[in-house]
Amino acid sequence: MENFTFQCATKVIFGRQAEEQVGKEVKAYTDKVLLHFGGSSIKKSGLYDRVTARLREAGVSYIELGGVVPNPRVSLVREGIRLCREHNIRFILAVGGGSVIDSAKAIGIGVPYDGDVWDFYMKKAEIKEMLPVGVVLTIPAAGSEQSHNSVITNEDEQLKLGAGAQCMRPQFAIMNPELTFTLPAYQTASGCMDIMAHVMERYFTNTRGVDFTDRLCESTLKTIIKNLPIALENPEDYNARAEIMWAGSIAHNNLLGVGREQDWGNHAMEHELSAIYDVTHGAGLGVTFPAWMRYVYKHDVARFAQFAARVWDVETMYAPEEMALEGIRRYSEFIRACGLPTTLSELKIPGDRFEEMARKCTRDDTRVVGCFVRLYAKDVLNIYNMAK
Ligand code: NZQ
Ligand code: ZN
Repeated sequence: MENFTFQCATKVIFGRQAEEQVGKEVKAYTDKVLLHFGGSSIKKSGLYDRVTARLREAGVSYIELGGVVPNPRVSLVREGIRLCREHNIRFILAVGGGSVIDSAKAIGIGVPYDGDVWDFYMKKAEIKEMLPVGVVLTIPAAGSEQSHNSVITNEDEQLKLGAGAQCMRPQFAIMNPELTFTLPAYQTASGCMDIMAHVMERYFTNTRGVDFTDRLCESTLKTIIKNLPIALENPEDYNARAEIMWAGSIAHNNLLGVGREQDWGNHAMEHELSAIYDVTHGAGLGVTFPAWMRYVYKHDVARFAQFAARVWDVETMYAPEEMALEGIRRYSEFIRACGLPTTLSELKIPGDRFEEMARKCTRDDTRVVGCFVRLYAKDVLNIYNMAK
């Protein structure tokens, strides 16, 4: 196990009617916020009305900025920065999923910075501070409610890039599983694929002596495997929604990743898909991950056999390589059974830009992708081809 420092300062308020506390939580910081949200879901569900009522009761005024889209755009971030400066706002309340939270974080790092916020995503500037961000979470998926990252799309350049710093963890995350009852099946399932991917990016490691975090990873994966079908069958099953929501947050606050080298190659490969084709992030990962596994499993057959046995209940009587392949097959089958695509063509992604995507992903082969197995442009291209 490697040395590590772990600190996650996000206060979690979890459970039924948790959003009723939003006024009190915000008031502890400020009496004026930027209220940031996405499309129509929070208005349809009545969440918008409840949140704004609690803010008013607490004496908190708000300027609204809705319209965040999945794969959130830098243009709206710039608008948010402008609004915060104009109205002297020093706190952002994100009501939504990963896209809204990431957009809020981007605004939060952009306001105190003199240059253009995209500099942070291009790694041209170092993030030193972020305005405090509070979250009311409506979809378990990205884990941004506790993570220290933000992923933003520059629509003009067809680039989707991440920026991260410890100061980017939200101050609080209000998590009521009931708020996820209204999620369409596709979003529920895609969100769970993202959660599983966050665990597996950490699980497939070359670091030895990480049995405790291996087992945390495996039980997080098993929690999703058990509860996703229940939530798809009965969207209002509170306990299934609660298990998924908590697992999703723990999957990406890095508790499961400490002390080990982490891979993140699939996220890099998926970001090329969503940057160009605007696909749902989790659905994209459900296509790249099994292809990546088939491409790299020989690097550490024993680890893939462990994954197969402990996560997918593959019988240990088989040879390790057979177990490894059976584990990957069961994972793929699970994705399909949850109603998601398992190929790029099912995602409506043609093969004509694979080479360009592989080049962009590796910055013209100047950057290695992942580290469990180090991938070059030709490897990324092979994986896209295996997934097509
Ligand atoms: O916009 P509205 O109308 O709210 O609809 C949203 C959106 O269309 C809908 N939705 C959300 N909650 C709902 C709901 N519909 C009905 N009922 C509800 N309760 O779901 C759609 C997807 O929302 P989005 O926020 O995009 O989902 P998600 O949380 O999966 O976020 C995806 C983004 O997070 C980034 C991804 O790249 C992607 O851009 N990620 C961020 C990470 C981070 N900051 O640490 C890590 C992740 O790996 C990921 O990359
Ligand atoms: Zn992700």
